[in-house]
Amino acid sequence: MKQLTSAQLREMFLKFMESKGCARIQSASVIPENDPTVLFTTAGMHPLVPYLMGAKHPAGTRLTDVQKCIRTGDIDDVGDPSHLTFFEMLGNFSFGDYFKHEAIAWSWEFLTEVVGLDPDRLYPSVYLEDDEAFDIWNKEIGIPADRIYRFGKEDNFWEHGAGPCGPCSEIYYDRGEKYGCGKPGCTVGCDCDRYMEIWNNVFTQFDNDGEGHYTELEQKNIDTGMGLERLASVVQDVDSIFDVDTLCALRNKVCELAHTEYKKDEEKDVSIRLITDHIRSATFMISDGIMPTNEGRGYVLRRLIRRAARHGRLLGIQGPFLVDL
Ligand code: GLY
Repeated sequence: MKQLTSAQLREMFLKFMESKGCARIQSASVIPENDPTVLFTTAGMHPLVPYLMGAKHPAGTRLTDVQKCIRTGDIDDVGDPSHLTFFEMLGNFSFGDYFKHEAIAWSWEFLTEVVGLDPDRLYPSVYLEDDEAFDIWNKEIGIPADRIYRFGKEDNFWEHGAGPCGPCSEIYYDRGEKYGCGKPGCTVGCDCDRYMEIWNNVFTQFDNDGEGHYTELEQKNIDTGMGLERLASVVQDVDSIFDVDTLCALRNKVCELAHTEYKKDEEKDVSIRLITDHIRSATFMISDGIMPTNEGRGYVLRRLIRRAARHGRLLGIQGPFLVDL
């Protein structure tokens, strides 16, 4: 596999989607502009909801971007090797333009031909009833039927509360036996770390009113999401997202400030990972104009800073140190 940095992967993705006619747009702010119901931009499609619903985007009907996302719902799990509160979501979008055939073919082409992932380690999944997506994978891309998984609503129907949603087709990467749980039946969809979902093609064709009532959208859309940090962990063949080049640089700086080494003491590793994650979120929040306060998103920022500072003390770091990160 090619040796690629996160910066290279980010640019390769955007260039590839541009070659398919998608206009490159800037990431929106982490402060949602059109959604008062949530504190942060949580997904690549989030700032684009009005266009998935039919509004005209000034850049056209095919877009690509890398969206800054913040999800703090599982903040208490941060510190383990797989949770982040801040991540970059690579995405390509169609507003009533291309649909399943192109989205699936491009995701496969990018991963196997541009990035150079081994096709034998990739497994697509489709929504239970989505025979059309199944046939595209099977007949057009040439994936044998027994390598295509059908999953139900929990895994293969993408929705984020109210708003545009639809069945999806994910691509899993087999990271190898050493990451597996070893249990009989461990396969794609297992909760262990072996089969990692890296790309999600959402066929956005419904509007959920928030009460679970679905209406067909007038236009059929594509919303894709691929976490840059996850993709980088696969391409760079490292144990976790905290070992990819960008996070590793920060992680090493935390270790330097704490006069310690990573992977020597699990308790310290939790603090190292937590600080590494929280300083990224805090920096992006502040750069988008959020200040620490006692409520709302400012309170979340304050909480992140306090938690990071406390874990710095646990590592024995004296004085202000977050600014150095
Ligand atoms: N909106 C698709 C995803 O975030 O996976």
